[in-house]
Amino acid sequence: MTTGCVILAGGEGKRMKSERPKVLCEVLKKPMLGWVLDAANGFGFDKTCVVTGYKAELCAEYLKSREETIATYLQSERLGTGDAVKRAEELVQSVDVVCVLCGDAPFIDEDTLKKSFEYHQTSGADVTVITANIEKPKGYGRIIRENGKFIAIREQKDCSPDEDKICEVNSGAYWFNAKKLAEALPKLTTNNANGEFYLTDCVEIIGNAAAFTSDNPDIVLGANTRQGLLELNEKARRNVFERLMNDGVSFITTDGIVIGADVKIGCDTLILPNTVILGKTTIGKNCEIGANSHIEDCTIGDNVMLDNVKAAKSTVEDGVTIGPFAQLRPGTVIRKGVHIGDFVEIKNSDIGENTAVAHLTYLGDSTVGRGVNFGCGCVTANYDGVNKFRTEIGDHAFIGCNTNLIAPVKVGENATTAAGSTITREVPPNSLAVERAKTRIIENWPKNFQRKKK
Ligand code: UD1
Ligand code: CA
Repeated sequence: MTTGCVILAGGEGKRMKSERPKVLCEVLKKPMLGWVLDAANGFGFDKTCVVTGYKAELCAEYLKSREETIATYLQSERLGTGDAVKRAEELVQSVDVVCVLCGDAPFIDEDTLKKSFEYHQTSGADVTVITANIEKPKGYGRIIRENGKFIAIREQKDCSPDEDKICEVNSGAYWFNAKKLAEALPKLTTNNANGEFYLTDCVEIIGNAAAFTSDNPDIVLGANTRQGLLELNEKARRNVFERLMNDGVSFITTDGIVIGADVKIGCDTLILPNTVILGKTTIGKNCEIGANSHIEDCTIGDNVMLDNVKAAKSTVEDGVTIGPFAQLRPGTVIRKGVHIGDFVEIKNSDIGENTAVAHLTYLGDSTVGRGVNFGCGCVTANYDGVNKFRTEIGDHAFIGCNTNLIAPVKVGENATTAAGSTITREVPPNSLAVERAKTRIIENWPKNFQRKKK
């Protein structure tokens, strides 16, 4: 038996006042569409597609940035959720069971999909709607039951006063027998308060329907406004803290801390205030991260201290200390036991074990060996205004204060560069490179006497 997933993402979301489609509005810096795609990937459908419409090109751009290939179907006019699913007819025709998800309900999760799928299979229903009981059902489709049996979904605008009071709502996630769905879609009409093709009418058309009531009411939540989006962010943020604390992560306070849903952190690690950790970041055990740090898409080992650090797309191995006020830019690898001090920027470089870069230094496009010591104020001049070049430094080299290394250039093992040198050619191992004018002394320099008199 094959399964397919259709994610609806064609809507505009006017009340969001955005220049992007609503599904690209972010919760914990991840578009709502991304949350839904991750849940779908977690389930592991045989095929997944996204129906795009309003500003489809922006959705396509986002899908491309995820580096996975997902089919998209264009809904050129916003004629309703039923019409949107029609656009994905090709997928519907090619599988046995179809799951439809809303791209604007980010909290649907893998677990709910798995349980509801099992329910759909064992109940023998042709359509199963995932529902939840919520306190404020306004705006959602209501679950209509007759003698307890689920028979229809009524949209807010079409509800009678009695139906309006129903608190069990449609999450917008459904399982369909693919054949029955294909037969029902052409039968949809626009005979409703919105004049749209409602996917929800398929329940009555197909008939043999079941409702899977989730015990997690959050799965239905969506946002229509920025206020609603903030609520989703706050909920998601607290959920992440809960998960991390269950994994043994410590917080003195959660003030100013934002951690993305996909971040993994080991036990006994302490996260300090004003720290933002996003993307596919993994942090090991017993670290201290923050205060005031911003970490995105990084892999960080155990026993690492990051104090006022900004880091992106970088790897930091065990026992490293960085900061305060340092930046790791993409493509950087910091090996075990390295110390990086204040006002250091490192880009696209590999820094060997136990090397120290203690102060005021820029290292770009560099490969640095083990046990190297950088004095204060060193610079790898990696860019000549047109091209970028690499600097290579051997193990245990000693780079004196204020050394400029004009790339491409190599410094051999155990070599030393004298403070203030500008190195333009290869320094052989074990040698000293001095590039410095001799100090001249001019006695009784008159200007300083004049200054004192003034
Ligand atoms: C829909 C359901 C409602 C349910 C709610 C849950 C219908 C008729 N109603 O209402 O029962 O409680 O979701 O969130 O389905 N979309 C398109 N093309 C369109 C219209 C919508 O792709 O022409 C997409 C939207 O981008 C969105 C999803 O479908 O991701 C849901 O559409 P939306 O207009 O938000 O439906 P709701 O009014 O929330
Ligand atoms: Ca919606």
